[in-house]
Amino acid sequence: MAKRRATFLCQECGAVYNRWMGKCEACGAWNSIVEEVGGGDASANMPAALRSPRSKGRVFALEGLEGETKEPPRTPAGIAELDRVTGGGFVRGSVILIGGDPGIGKSTLLMQASAALASAGRRVVYISGEEAVGQVRLRAERMGLGTSPVELAAQTNVEDIIATLSEGEVPALVVIDSIQTMWTDTVESAPGTVTQVRASAQHLIRYAKTSGAAVILVGHVTKDGQIAGPRVVEHMVDAVASFEGDSAHHFRILRAVKNRFGPTDEIGVFEMTGKGLAEVANPSALFLEGRDKAAPGTAVFAGMEGTRPLLVEIQALVAPTSLGTPRRAVVGWDPARLSMVVAVLEAHAGLKLGMHDIYLNVAGGMRVTEPACDLAAAAALVSSLSGAALPPDSVYFGELGLSGAVRPVAQAPTRMKEAAKLGFSTAVIPALRGEADGATPLRSNVIGHITELVAQIAARPRHRNAASG
Ligand code: TYD
Ligand code: MG
Repeated sequence: MAKRRATFLCQECGAVYNRWMGKCEACGAWNSIVEEVGGGDASANMPAALRSPRSKGRVFALEGLEGETKEPPRTPAGIAELDRVTGGGFVRGSVILIGGDPGIGKSTLLMQASAALASAGRRVVYISGEEAVGQVRLRAERMGLGTSPVELAAQTNVEDIIATLSEGEVPALVVIDSIQTMWTDTVESAPGTVTQVRASAQHLIRYAKTSGAAVILVGHVTKDGQIAGPRVVEHMVDAVASFEGDSAHHFRILRAVKNRFGPTDEIGVFEMTGKGLAEVANPSALFLEGRDKAAPGTAVFAGMEGTRPLLVEIQALVAPTSLGTPRRAVVGWDPARLSMVVAVLEAHAGLKLGMHDIYLNVAGGMRVTEPACDLAAAAALVSSLSGAALPPDSVYFGELGLSGAVRPVAQAPTRMKEAAKLGFSTAVIPALRGEADGATPLRSNVIGHITELVAQIAARPRHRNAASG
């Protein structure tokens, strides 16, 4: 029999070592490595019956790619923004991990989803490991959901929870809030450790698969954006969604990160109100609220989030620096892309930005990941530097190449349609690819090279005191 070796596990990232160390080499965390009781490999946490070695494997039938496939049976929550992210509803027997900062509104959202399903006559069980039943009830009451037949419990032991769930009708939805508070008898580590989180999740996932109930696990996120501990859970579950937003703004975004049963680029937009989360059917209007149209340094970017177009305001501030090394700060966009856009403006359009502080902000706390934002960012930067406001009725999208060429991006017609709906009349964009030409709802101002954009902005009147360029 093989000798049992001790394993050491980083509690931050789940990296496995065969000796103790003060610092995790994988994630750089200090003092996070703990000896694992019961071995590091996942099978150690399985019940003995599953682990028992078999001398011979069982032969199973193989199937072809052709054949009957059924859409997985789904239970829509009835909250359109949530159903959009799950891909049309919770799939039976599937497990979703919802991560987010503490206080962002995970419990609120899931209580609303639970109440909606329960009111529609489905069995919903909400297990809170963080709050007492009274607290959960009080919040539900405040949101006007006090009469909905959600079954509540404040429990943390996974075996007890599964035993309770196994009685009576199989629930359509089980919410576990949160996975970090759960613990199982099968491992000895303390609750909240990677070992406990992983073993608890394993049990709950097995419960979902065998019973057919959809299970939602709530996971808290650490400051650097990782779902702490639950990172080791991410690959075990069927879908991972993150709930984002910052406390300074009232809206929240649910973003699918992984989804075995649906799209991964969809977002759901909510607004935190005094009565829980409200759906935002027209997020573009929300993100453009309170826009200062006459101010230099702002450009409206017509972006896409999954299948949905989304207009956001890109704000730039370019000002002469008082420091030896100019500051570059970005909120809501990739700092590496800003550096690239700045480099292209310097190299190809002759702008001198080396002695300027540059700040770029996506208004409203939205996070943009598309390279299509390059042109909008460039326009905002040039506008701020020259002190000339951009035309208020224009939207921008296009990817910037290192040569200064502006390259086409996907879904131009969808972006333009959304802009037209919100009252914009001009799209400052790269040349469209064939089929998109002609019947666009906006006037196109085609930019082939970054120098054309700079020349157009330079020709505009200066409104306010310009930063010297
Ligand atoms: P919560 O759902 O408890 O966050 P999480 O479970 O992600 O930790 O949300 C708590 C925050 O939401 C808290 O700051 C108060 C706010 N909130 C409202 O603004 N309106 C409401 O109706 C509710 C229930 C909460
Ligand atoms: Mg909570």
